[in-house]
Amino acid sequence: MNQLKHYIGVVILVAVLTVATGLGLQSALQNGYILPPAASWQAVPIDWLFGLHFWAIAFLFSLIVGFLLYSVIVFRRKKGETGDGVHFEGNTTIEILWTLIPLATVIYFAYLGAQTLSDIQRVDPDAIRVNVTGRQWSWTFEYPELGIVSEELVLPNNKQALLRMKSQDVIHSFWVPEFRVKQDVLPGDMVRELRVTPKEVGEYKVRCAELCGRDHANMRAPVVVLEQADFDAWVEERLAADPTKSDDPVVRGQAWAIQFGCAACHSFDGTDGIGPSWAGLFGKEETMEDGSTVLVDAEYLIESIRDPGAQIVAGYQNVMPANIGEDLTDDQIADIIAFIESLK
Ligand code: CUA
Repeated sequence: MNQLKHYIGVVILVAVLTVATGLGLQSALQNGYILPPAASWQAVPIDWLFGLHFWAIAFLFSLIVGFLLYSVIVFRRKKGETGDGVHFEGNTTIEILWTLIPLATVIYFAYLGAQTLSDIQRVDPDAIRVNVTGRQWSWTFEYPELGIVSEELVLPNNKQALLRMKSQDVIHSFWVPEFRVKQDVLPGDMVRELRVTPKEVGEYKVRCAELCGRDHANMRAPVVVLEQADFDAWVEERLAADPTKSDDPVVRGQAWAIQFGCAACHSFDGTDGIGPSWAGLFGKEETMEDGSTVLVDAEYLIESIRDPGAQIVAGYQNVMPANIGEDLTDDQIADIIAFIESLK
């Protein structure tokens, strides 16, 4: 009878603690203290599973802390008590239970995890395709069906997007916290796929979630989710005013510089960055690491793009993508140089 009293006391304490901790965690989750608002349909099952894990966490926390607190308070040493406690050894029933219950729980969570994974990878044959390229330290988004290359990821709402991703240098990781899903972006020919179906019109940000060098923290790109009609208007606008098809080499050069990620490290306005700013660069005498000087002309710029490590300006390191020269055609490089020349 006395023992039953303790059992009931512990069960009530653990139950109260579980509910209190669980409700606290759920409210933190719902109020955005733990995750930002969910903005994709893939986020729905992920958040649901996340919430369920939080209940499991609340219960395990309460089970341990509840027993501990109850024992510390109720079974504390009474005044004048000097002997050891009652000795007991083993309890087969409890040992079987605390093996089987966690085992069944873990298997159940594994089943739910597999179900969620297949849920968020469901293929929509009408998905809009976007080829994503990551590099130190910028992103580019190509819409092969639309003939658009963009430095921001624009997606129609409520339509699945199939992102096919690769890296030009090291491992990066594509992550939009509001979409929940995340995917490593690998160099070589290892294209990785990610499916996202936005469900909230708004502006977000791609973040790189894999440490990838000096400017990793700034490897971001805007994400814009638009209603289908607004998305169609954006496509029209982009196609009508494609700067890479301009007659002006300066306009084309600026577009290439953004598209190929140059702008991530070389500012156009004189701000110092990872690499020298392009403002006022053309025609300038630059001091090299060995103390010699070089006149910045077309020849030097071509060499610096084709072979970035050849002549480094003092105070900078060669962190340019080594194969950037292979990705750019001679005409594109000429356009970029015309753009640099225009930045007085
Ligand atoms: Cu790319 Cu970190």
